[in-house]
Amino acid sequence: MLSETLPTYLWFEPTNTCNAQCPLCPTGANQLSRDKAFLDFHLYKRIIDEVRPRLVYFWNYGEPFLHPDIFAMFRYAADRGAQTHVSTNGFVFYKLENIQKLIDSGLHTLLLAIDGIDAETFNRYRVGVDFDKVLRGLALLLKQRPAHLEIVWQFIVMRHNEHQIEEARALAQQLGIKFALKAVSLDMLPQQADPDPYLPQNLHLSRYTWQGDQLVLKGGFHPCYFVNASLMINADGSVAPCPFDAQGWLTLGNAHTQTIREIWSSESMQQLRHRLQQSRQTFSPCKTCSVGSTLFV
Ligand SMILES: C[S@@+](CC[C@H](N)C(=O)[O-])C[C@H]1O[C@@H](n2cnc3c(N)ncnc32)[C@H](O)[C@@H]1O
Ligand code: SF4
Repeated sequence: MLSETLPTYLWFEPTNTCNAQCPLCPTGANQLSRDKAFLDFHLYKRIIDEVRPRLVYFWNYGEPFLHPDIFAMFRYAADRGAQTHVSTNGFVFYKLENIQKLIDSGLHTLLLAIDGIDAETFNRYRVGVDFDKVLRGLALLLKQRPAHLEIVWQFIVMRHNEHQIEEARALAQQLGIKFALKAVSLDMLPQQADPDPYLPQNLHLSRYTWQGDQLVLKGGFHPCYFVNASLMINADGSVAPCPFDAQGWLTLGNAHTQTIREIWSSESMQQLRHRLQQSRQTFSPCKTCSVGSTLFV
């Protein structure tokens, strides 16, 4: 049952372009079918003013800090009472001016994706990101970190880096930042490709398990909570139900021509809620989506 006439939190995709080429990311692997775009700042402000979300996530399939107005976006949402969270490959903070902008933006949580403790391991997945610059940026940031900013070291566990988990955890502790282990998603693994090189040996650290020769989500399917709570506004203004819909297969409308209230109660949104109640195992991307599974291990 839908109890609200508007979503309570929002996701924004500031851009679907990236400076990196992570092999399992549709943007990094150049497999995103949506046109490259940067979210219009005026549109963004209009949506924040309409929805007044409690919480805003600034990521989808691209590097948020490539957007020229990203700091102003954080500020705008924070000034209107929203908690703000962003995930980044961390390439911008080696520049002091960006640290100051980040501090001034009022951002609440910065998720830094560092999947290894040396350049060789890190670059197996974060292709095209300069490991030394990321660490230098983190060190600079820590020198000036304001009390309102939470920094989380996010480490995606894969076969090639699982042996570095404890060292990374110890380093995070030494630096005084949170450490979060994320189970790798294979949603974007090309058909017929071998998942083995990405799956950790320790399957406790995976969101999947083997059923015979099939890789399946641990714990099976869970009800989808996104469709009654939030929306994803893509860089081109198209609106998707959630960050799992990378290619926009379930596009519900476009915020350039519709209000969020209209999209939230639209026929397409209601149909999706209905389909999800029937079975989410019959259509993409819901049939492989890990909503409700334990993603942080
Ligand atoms: C597509 S990224 C976009 C944000 C930013 N460019 C980044 O990498 O942090 C969105 C989130 O997915 C994470 N991610 C990337 N590849 C992943 C994978 N194969 N499995 C799970 N999470 C992944 C990223 O670290 C980030 O937290
Ligand atoms: S840094 Fe983020 S958006 Fe860029 S390719 Fe990697 S996962 Fe994708």
